[in-house]
Amino acid sequence: MTRSNHLSRFYFFNLIFALLLPAFAVADEGMWIPMLLSKNEAAMQKAGMHISAKDIYDINNACLKDAVVLFGSGCTGEYVSDQGLLLTNHHCGYSFIVRHSTVANDYLTHGFWASSREQELPCPGLTVTRLVRMDDVTEEVLKGVGKDDDEATRSNKIEENITNIIKERTAGTHYKAVIKPFYYGNQYFIYINEVFTDVRLVGAPPSNIGKFGGDTDNWMWPRHTGDFSMFRVYADKEDKPADYSKDNVPYRPLKHMTISLKGVDEDDFTFVFGYPGTTKRYVTHDEVDLVANGTNPIRIGLRDIRLKHYKNAMEQSTKQRLRYASKVASIANGWKKWQGESLGIERLEGVAQKKDQERQFRQWASDKPEYAKVLDELEKNYADLRPIEVEWTWFNEAVMASDFMVRAHQLWQIRRTGDELKVQEIVNSILKSNETYFEDFEERSAVDKAIFVETMIEMWKAGYAKKYFLKSVTVAAVRKRLNFIYDNSVINNREKLEKMLKTIKPGTNNKLHKDSGVDFFTVAYANTYSNENRSKYYDAKDNINRLMRTYIKGQMAMFPDSNFFPDANLTLRVTYGHVKGFEPVDGVYYKPYTTLDGIIQKENPDIYDYVVEPRLKELYRSKDYGRYANAKGEMPVAFIATNHTTGGNSGSPVLNADGQLIGINFDRCWEGTMSDLLFDPNYCRNISLDIRYCLFIIDKFAGAKHLVDEMTIAQ
Ligand code: ARG
Ligand code: GLU
Repeated sequence: MTRSNHLSRFYFFNLIFALLLPAFAVADEGMWIPMLLSKNEAAMQKAGMHISAKDIYDINNACLKDAVVLFGSGCTGEYVSDQGLLLTNHHCGYSFIVRHSTVANDYLTHGFWASSREQELPCPGLTVTRLVRMDDVTEEVLKGVGKDDDEATRSNKIEENITNIIKERTAGTHYKAVIKPFYYGNQYFIYINEVFTDVRLVGAPPSNIGKFGGDTDNWMWPRHTGDFSMFRVYADKEDKPADYSKDNVPYRPLKHMTISLKGVDEDDFTFVFGYPGTTKRYVTHDEVDLVANGTNPIRIGLRDIRLKHYKNAMEQSTKQRLRYASKVASIANGWKKWQGESLGIERLEGVAQKKDQERQFRQWASDKPEYAKVLDELEKNYADLRPIEVEWTWFNEAVMASDFMVRAHQLWQIRRTGDELKVQEIVNSILKSNETYFEDFEERSAVDKAIFVETMIEMWKAGYAKKYFLKSVTVAAVRKRLNFIYDNSVINNREKLEKMLKTIKPGTNNKLHKDSGVDFFTVAYANTYSNENRSKYYDAKDNINRLMRTYIKGQMAMFPDSNFFPDANLTLRVTYGHVKGFEPVDGVYYKPYTTLDGIIQKENPDIYDYVVEPRLKELYRSKDYGRYANAKGEMPVAFIATNHTTGGNSGSPVLNADGQLIGINFDRCWEGTMSDLLFDPNYCRNISLDIRYCLFIIDKFAGAKHLVDEMTIAQ
């Protein structure tokens, strides 16, 4: 099908849905529960899938589910050999690559490839979790819960039930289990898991491949990041999880991925199998408005300030670039996503769209006592919640923006606690971080102080800081006061600080009481997180959760024939769609895949994120792509598709119609990041690394063919 044909089909499709099912279902939207996939099977096969729901999830036979794991606590990974070899993203393995890197062996910069099992590097703290099975335990979880119980009584009862169910279901096994609520607690599923703790680093490309394009390209298409790293899971001789030991052997997974080198074309069916973290699909206009017009603009504006100062410093020297690199990466990641999200909500008129749906719901519910009042009550509770949510966002993004205040927060805890051990812990952590905090202090504190002063002035201008500092009436006076606070705090005087920490005692009766920095933090905190604010906030939150439980139940009753996917909650899900380009703005069409040519086009030896390795250029010049080239002889790098994904899907396997591995999910296009709240098939695209580029890098670039030889490649 041609593209314009497709777009008009989407348009037509949306139009019909707008009339009949007011946006309760959109093409390609949904993160489906593997156990209930038989409900999606027909639609998936109609969309192009050749395999069955049972090939994906089956508790009686080895299936694709056994090849997909939760990597750490927020990413996904997949087995690609019968020897426990695992693929995930470079940014998911990042902290472990960093931990093994030293100045002499800088694996982060130059890459790492174990040429034998002995060279694989243990990663204490890293876990890999396989889902053994899942079950609906709603009835057991809600046993004894009364219809009119308040939220506290209800959740106590549920907690108790959950503890018992988990104990019962895992007795006599090495399994661990979690029970998670779905649809705001209308349904509960248990996840019986096997958690592996001996996971070793096997390979990582150099940063200028694994993080090519850095933060500039992050969330963007066209993309050329080789975002992958490799690990291996070890187990005892029975393939059971065991803590690290020399005697452990490579784990033999029940199933590993078969890799396809055939690649994909526009409109081909794909699905993604992994652990999406959080979505808010069924919320009301108040929540959408709070995100788009309440909290996002505050966060974006305050992060603009921070990024400006850090980036400016990073341009001064390599030392400063390294100092701020990972900080900037994490600040910029949210900053960019929220901009896309707010724009997307605006483009879709998300608030109006939700209001429209609510109008229809109200009409439908007017003669149904259970649902008739639910939207009014939600509105009332959002009115209570919003001002506090906004104020807390200011605090978190402005007060907590500087390292200075992060330390003030630590010291403030000493004042608060009565626990000597806790004090010792804090003191030790501060003493340890003194090394970096006071390194090149003049240079460092100039940046930190500017961030402290500027973000606090913004907060003051917005009216939020007025009540807890500075009766001053002019910006100049506020600035002067903030400078004074920074310059006079013991936090910024190493000698005094270390002397004081030696004799510090818990409680308020110490020298911190009078310190300008700690005192400032104390007043700010006390005002922001006052008892009044807290009780109002948590009451509203509880109520909203309870009301949402009713509202979503009502939405399902209103559209009994629709298949409602539950919001993401870091449980295993399947999402499917098609490889597809899109039009980010009028007159521009984005092709659905990129190639090595684009890396050469982006090359810039002067910009760190765009340096291209000589070896890669050599391979490009000689077109030495081996069996990894596409039919046109190009080296494919990444592709986009309409799969509905979110944070946590990083590292997820992207599969073709036959259930073979064709890519690794690593990002979304920022024009579609409102998909956590509102999905639009015209804009929402997940970004995947083409598995052929991954294998090409391992085999041709790094010369680690022995790792590719372990894999199963479909011919
Ligand atoms: N945007 C991706 C995600 O949300 C990748 C983030 C890591 N990469 C980066 N350049 N900061 O996780
Ligand atoms: N990079 C994200 C992650 O770490 C995935 C991007 C997204 O879809 O939010 O999970």
